[in-house]
Amino acid sequence: MMDILFYSAQAYDINYFNQANQQGSHRFRFLDAPLNEDNTALIKEEQAICIFVNDKADATVIHILQEKGVKLIALRCAGFNNVDLKAAASAGIKVVRVPAYSPHAVAEHAVTLLLALNRKIYKSYNRVRDGNFTLNGLEGFDLFGKTIGVIGTGNIGAVFCRIMQGFGCKVYAHDIYEQPALQEAGVEYVSMATVFSKADVISLHCPLLESTRHIVNAHTIATMKPGVVLINTSRGGLIDTKAVVEALKNGHIGALGIDVYEQEEHLFFQNFSGSIIQDDVLSRLTTFPNVVVTAHQGFFTKEALTQIAEVTLNNIRSYEKGEDLLNEVK
Ligand code: NAI
Repeated sequence: MMDILFYSAQAYDINYFNQANQQGSHRFRFLDAPLNEDNTALIKEEQAICIFVNDKADATVIHILQEKGVKLIALRCAGFNNVDLKAAASAGIKVVRVPAYSPHAVAEHAVTLLLALNRKIYKSYNRVRDGNFTLNGLEGFDLFGKTIGVIGTGNIGAVFCRIMQGFGCKVYAHDIYEQPALQEAGVEYVSMATVFSKADVISLHCPLLESTRHIVNAHTIATMKPGVVLINTSRGGLIDTKAVVEALKNGHIGALGIDVYEQEEHLFFQNFSGSIIQDDVLSRLTTFPNVVVTAHQGFFTKEALTQIAEVTLNNIRSYEKGEDLLNEVK
């Protein structure tokens, strides 16, 4: 039995992890505090910590974790850009993640953002509730026949491609690995520059790496079609948000749907409804009539939460038994 300390635990984490641990194979302690340097003081005897997307395991934190006897960082998410893997390796701390949980959850959320923006559901919902049944300003466009550009055709990007093909769209994709099954289904792999210049809608599904940071920037935006719809459910750092704000102001970007934001760790998963938001870039974004921001909810379906809890506990069990760590990140 392992003692596991959870950082950034929300009510749903507690619920789904307790369900997955009905046999009592592990002992849990849940904290709503995030992992950072100060909060390492909250570790007691736990050899495993379980963290989420905005918990910071940088070199300083990892050094303290090592001193405290932590042996395993179990990420209950797919992305791992918030963990210094080199520091973890030299501290002898293993890092595991949940590489693939319902890719449908995130892909379907990307489609949700696209449809909501195109047909302006957020406006019509409020209008009708206010007794206003007019249509001015709600005009959208048929997705049928449009060109969709997808960056990253891994688990999520591949599902997104197939959904868009179902709408009768032409799909151009870019990835460093091409998937033959998608090619057979009619997805055409092209350069990133071609995706950017040809697409009516661009959706980002690649991980955040040094090579992918700010792939959407002032230069690449200038090559995009005027009126392009940009969707990002991957990681905020893929987009230079200030450049996107400029392009929204001058109309080059027609609509923006994001579930992730560069500075989200200061805001997302917390309730600031009674406070003054200090982030001027996000605040500006939320003033545009053609921008929808959701707070990293792409993964948030019953199916995904069940899989996340089960795979995370399996990862921890494998570590405990000394088995090969199939979901290790190095
Ligand atoms: P994956 O690892 O299956 O696919 C990522 C794909 O990106 C791979 O095919 C890879 O070859 C490709 N790629 C890597 N570098 C690239 C580059 N320079 N240019 C083009 N493609 C490149 O990952 P998965 O599961 O599809 O997730 C994608 C991203 O979605 C994750 O990295 C994560 O950041 C994000 N995500 C967001 C969630 C949310 O709730 N909004 C939940 C889960 C994941």
